[in-house]
Amino acid sequence: MNTKGSVQGRFCMKSMLITVREATLADLDTILQIRLASFQGTEQWQYRYPFYHNYPEDHAISSRRRIEEYLKDETGASGHVMLAETPCSEDSEVKIPIAWAVWRMPSSHDELVSAAELQTPEVLKQFPRRDTNLAHVKAFKSACKVARETCFGSKYGNKQMFLHNISTQPDYQRRGAATALIQWGMSFAEREGVPVTLLSNSVGIHLYTQLGFKSLGSVEVRVEGDSEMLFITPMIKEPKSSS
Ligand SMILES: CC(C)(COP(=O)(O)OP(=O)(O)OC[C@H]1O[C@@H](n2cnc3c(N)ncnc32)[C@H](O)[C@@H]1OP(=O)(O)O)[C@@H](O)C(=O)NCCC(=O)NCCS
Repeated sequence: MNTKGSVQGRFCMKSMLITVREATLADLDTILQIRLASFQGTEQWQYRYPFYHNYPEDHAISSRRRIEEYLKDETGASGHVMLAETPCSEDSEVKIPIAWAVWRMPSSHDELVSAAELQTPEVLKQFPRRDTNLAHVKAFKSACKVARETCFGSKYGNKQMFLHNISTQPDYQRRGAATALIQWGMSFAEREGVPVTLLSNSVGIHLYTQLGFKSLGSVEVRVEGDSEMLFITPMIKEPKSSS
């Protein structure tokens, strides 16, 4: 994926300098650690992976495979990974990774099935996933697919920049890291003249709204007959050039 001219970004957020750069395979374990620390306890994690505390290794192995897929995919079709860092207070040459984001770049929106997510009997034998509620995972995926197709797919097709995933290390939250990562994506999308699209959870809504995203409603995720449910909110930020 050619992101030439936009790979780096410097942002000064709440007196913390944040740089944004493309992640590489060398960042794999750092990103895994941020993902595991930040998503634990969120509603969508709890819903899909209610047994992750009992089987942390199943959860970590699968998450690691997924991130590795993104990082190995140079086309950006499965995901283009960006990392936010801040200089260490003792030595500004040393950078501390604090947040990451996965983007589906414009022109890469074909329906993709991640190998790490395939739960065939063979895969499950090799990589057991005892952390998941499979019915909830399926319902979540299906709701996301419908929401993306209904709200964005038919209108924008490949001409959108989709934020697939974002999270910040808990110790560094509320200091502008996610904002810096999204601003990187918004600048890229602006230059391409495409909107930024995403599906938010309830925490994300505050973040995206203050960046100018508009909600397009909400989509229920629920297995028939099940009392547990959650909502996802499709959101969009059109490029300035379109107004
Ligand atoms: C959501 C998340 C990525 C935000 O990361 P962050 O680096 O803390 O975000 P920022 O510092 O850039 O936040 C900017 C603004 O967004 C809003 N915001 C961010 N997190 C919020 C929260 N937990 N509750 C309410 N508003 C929040 C605030 O308006 C905040 O500005 P403020 O701190 O001046 O009030 C982080 O909480 C996280 O990793 N959560 C777990 C994973 C997750 O839910 N990801 C979102 C998937 S849609």
